[in-house]
Amino acid sequence: MITDALWIGAGKDMGEICPSFKREFKTKKAVRRAVLAVTVIGVYEAEINGRRVGSFILAPGLTSYGTRLQYQTYDITDMLGTNNEINITVGKGWHRGRISMSSPDIHNTPCAVIAEIAIEYTSGETETLRTDDSWSVSGSRILFSDIYDGEIYDASANIGDSGPAVLIDLPKNILIPQEGTIVCEHERIKPVRRFTAPNGDQIIDFGQNLAGYVEFTVEAKSGDRIKISHAEVLDADGNFYTENYRSAKSEISYICRGGLQTYKPHFTFMGFRYIRLDAFPRGADLDSFTAIAIYSDMRRTGFIKTGSKKINRLFENTLWSQRANFIDIPSDCPQRDERMGWTGDAQVFAKTAGYNYDVLKFFKKWLSDVRAEQRSDGSIPDTVPNFWGLKSASASWGDVICIVPWQMYLLYGDRQILSDSFESMKRWVDYITNDTLDKYLWTSGGETKKLRNKHYGDWLALDAPAGSYKGSTSEDLIASAFYAYSAMLTVKTGRVLGEDVSEYEELYGNIVTTFKKRFTGLKTQTEHVLALYFDLTDDKRGTADRLAQMIADNGNKLQTGFVGTPYLLYALSGNGHADTAYKLLLQEDYPSWLYEVNHGATTVWEHWDGINDEGRMWSSDMNSYNHYAYGSVMDWIYTVAAGIRADENYPGFERAIIAPAADKRLGWLDASYDTPRGKITSKWTYMSGGVRYEITTPVRSVAVIDGNEYHIGKGSYIFYGEG
Ligand code: BGC
Repeated sequence: MITDALWIGAGKDMGEICPSFKREFKTKKAVRRAVLAVTVIGVYEAEINGRRVGSFILAPGLTSYGTRLQYQTYDITDMLGTNNEINITVGKGWHRGRISMSSPDIHNTPCAVIAEIAIEYTSGETETLRTDDSWSVSGSRILFSDIYDGEIYDASANIGDSGPAVLIDLPKNILIPQEGTIVCEHERIKPVRRFTAPNGDQIIDFGQNLAGYVEFTVEAKSGDRIKISHAEVLDADGNFYTENYRSAKSEISYICRGGLQTYKPHFTFMGFRYIRLDAFPRGADLDSFTAIAIYSDMRRTGFIKTGSKKINRLFENTLWSQRANFIDIPSDCPQRDERMGWTGDAQVFAKTAGYNYDVLKFFKKWLSDVRAEQRSDGSIPDTVPNFWGLKSASASWGDVICIVPWQMYLLYGDRQILSDSFESMKRWVDYITNDTLDKYLWTSGGETKKLRNKHYGDWLALDAPAGSYKGSTSEDLIASAFYAYSAMLTVKTGRVLGEDVSEYEELYGNIVTTFKKRFTGLKTQTEHVLALYFDLTDDKRGTADRLAQMIADNGNKLQTGFVGTPYLLYALSGNGHADTAYKLLLQEDYPSWLYEVNHGATTVWEHWDGINDEGRMWSSDMNSYNHYAYGSVMDWIYTVAAGIRADENYPGFERAIIAPAADKRLGWLDASYDTPRGKITSKWTYMSGGVRYEITTPVRSVAVIDGNEYHIGKGSYIFYGEG
């Protein structure tokens, strides 16, 4: 049991240097099995006899450290000899790095290691080695490391003498076995070009924005210096642009030893497409650089190809933004001084994420943190972990606790995720019930005595008043619509679990009635979208017609932000306006999904005009080029354009609905989704005289073609329709 081991630390201030904890040990006889269990306050790399243990990057991962710290177990049987040495090098990581600075309780926890090696001999005898004061500690060649700021590594350094490790009094009841998907290295990408920028900078372009780090190989003299900066984009003049990183330095400094050497960072990652060679000996050789993408180890499940190269690129961009922002938690962005588990972003993107990749395990672990951070009044912080110590809760952000479990249940049929979350869902809904100024709505009236102005509104919507990020959609309307939605999901969840949810059924009915009375005269696109998608209007047809008209009047362009955009195309296609939905999808002028594709995006941008037509940035403050939120349009392609839908009465694709919505402007579509019960494929193509549909399903399904339902069994089917 790892809890039988003792927490050990360095015992002296080692400054910024990452300490390395060491223990030598012998094995007595033939080893049948040996297992290492380990975790740290920070992030670690463990080595046994000079070989890295496991492939988990930034282990032990990111959790709500105050109550939940994962430890990992590794089979090390094959790594042991008779004389052995284990080294565990520890970086600040998230726990003690700059990212957690506003949470002193977490941030100021001392660097510490707890580990156990359990050896079983072929004789049946066992032996256990645990961290205690027999371990020693020394410096390492990692002189500095921080998630935001990068790393400094001195390959020429002489690691000083080691001293004894000391016992540290830290809790063990926070230790939990690894729950999540481990983060590891994935794509290795070679540069596509090297060039000198107009201002003289030497820049290497990897052709793809990603999150991870650069590996390089260099022949050098001892003491030669290498310095690399990272950037996602170039500015209007073609120069290296880092302002959107805000205070995150994202720099790598490396001091060479003599000879041929290869280096990649240990305890940091950057969001980048370009690097600038601030210092590099003897001119850099393109071949010596490789960008390595790191992200949680998820199985790819979704594939989309269409007749539009630009939509195909948008799909690739969405996959890349998912990869970059699934580094153990669902994050907003991987580059600037945030990289936080923003709950709103996660709920917006969870459905697309779940089609692209199998994310059940990933979200199960993160939802445990969400529940762990739910406050006693039932409110959910806006980021999990709540590193900034935010005290508020926002509509659409906090609703993550209802939306994500339900979405995962639909896709994977996992009831556990519902039963784990049900109490928290009720507590969130109850929080709203107790928080509002008006019964059956969630109203705050702005900065009233009762509430802080806490909602993020329709974040980054284009109808925002000057100087605001929040869009013009009524915050009370958004909050009340999501109150209804969360109450409904709580009811559905309770029914699945066989719980009595009559109280919430009644509540839901009252919210809907009160909403309809209160919010008449919808104004913004997002207000129409929410009323339609959450079923909060008696006049669906009229509301949808007005929404379609507003979009037409706006030149077939959207104005929606984080809250309206994910549901915009559904609100249209679900209410007789698939044509307008496709117009928005295929729109190429600003603002649109394809605008950024036309401007060279290789990931999804945070803001619709991250780069404007003159090549200028809309702002340096809130301008990530790798924010998955608007990539949520992909779930509309999976579930409407391709029509591959979970049936909520048969979750986890025990039975599927396949209802494609073909459109001539897209030409053809070929999508597949590897459900827990096998792969569903939906293809359609325009031919003279109509559309040819080809559907393959591993389960009994309802195919809907041109409004006609066909009950089909496992197999492949061809249909012809009008489209
Ligand atoms: C993040 C967003 C997040 C928002 C809250 C931003 O700084 O990057 O994606 O949801 O704050 O409104």
